[in-house]
Amino acid sequence: MSNDDTKAAESNVDTSQSDLKHQYRSMNLEQLKALMNDSTVSKNQKKKIKKQIQWMESVDGRKDRRKEKRKQRALKKKHLFEEHEKDASVELPPKPKKPRKEKISTTLGFSEHVHVAVDLSFDEYMTNHDLSKLRKQLGWCYQENRRCAKPVQYHICGLSDRMKGDMDQSYINWDVHFDLPLYEQFKKEDLVYLSSESPDVLEMVEAGKVYVIGGLVDHNRHKGLTHRIASEHGLIAKRLPLEEHIDMKTRKVLTVNHVFNCIVAFCELQDWKQALMRAIPARKGALPLQCET
Ligand SMILES: C[S@@+](CC[C@H](N)C(=O)[O-])C[C@H]1O[C@@H](n2cnc3c(N)ncnc32)[C@H](O)[C@@H]1O
Repeated sequence: MSNDDTKAAESNVDTSQSDLKHQYRSMNLEQLKALMNDSTVSKNQKKKIKKQIQWMESVDGRKDRRKEKRKQRALKKKHLFEEHEKDASVELPPKPKKPRKEKISTTLGFSEHVHVAVDLSFDEYMTNHDLSKLRKQLGWCYQENRRCAKPVQYHICGLSDRMKGDMDQSYINWDVHFDLPLYEQFKKEDLVYLSSESPDVLEMVEAGKVYVIGGLVDHNRHKGLTHRIASEHGLIAKRLPLEEHIDMKTRKVLTVNHVFNCIVAFCELQDWKQALMRAIPARKGALPLQCET
């Protein structure tokens, strides 16, 4: 076997093992326990199954810990307010931003607005667990758009029945565009596909353009997928200017909602460094670059 063949075989094993891991996540406890007694399942896979069983069995403990944390936060807040009453120099926590009441979505004046579309054509690449994460991310984008200073026209393109299935039913009233699949809804020349794999950098965010985010939660199992698909459709693809403006400890593939936040933050601030620092969570360890390239 050549070196290349060996690498290919190893990568196939990796992919199928990670697929299996994701299959376990969509199984229930009984199914997983049955697998533990299955002599055809390898030791290595059993280790993974055992981990998943432990995770599922500790659900109650995690709920209790979250409840306790909420209680502690409420107590801390109460304490701060009491201190502030006694001494006005004690700072209160910032008030949460209220969602705006006026309607954002409009079908008028396409070229006057910045559009951000999430392309939901990747169902087949996601497990049920991934899909439920994506549902949450779509909701966080919605909340961000309702609260930010410069909202965009938010399009959700090609919502499938599988995706709708477990969606919190309040989504029906969201102030967003529920559109046809991406390529049926928009003209190709209006689309800019966002992809971390693109060699081209997104410099500006312009009105009249549709910035497309791949609706994909894949823990990098499908590296480069959206870039490949954008190229196949002959679309312009651009990456966020992360390495030009910030120093990041973790990898440069962001989640759907963080990419969305980067775009709306840029619309408001018109400055990438500030926008990225605001939109990317502190746990990603992003620091502003001193010298820009
Ligand atoms: C979790 S990523 C999916 C990664 C996936 N392997 C892929 O092929 O794109 C979700 C989406 O966010 C966007 N995205 C993530 N990081 C980005 C970056 N650094 N620059 C531009 N777009 C990014 C892309 O549209 C991507 O499809």
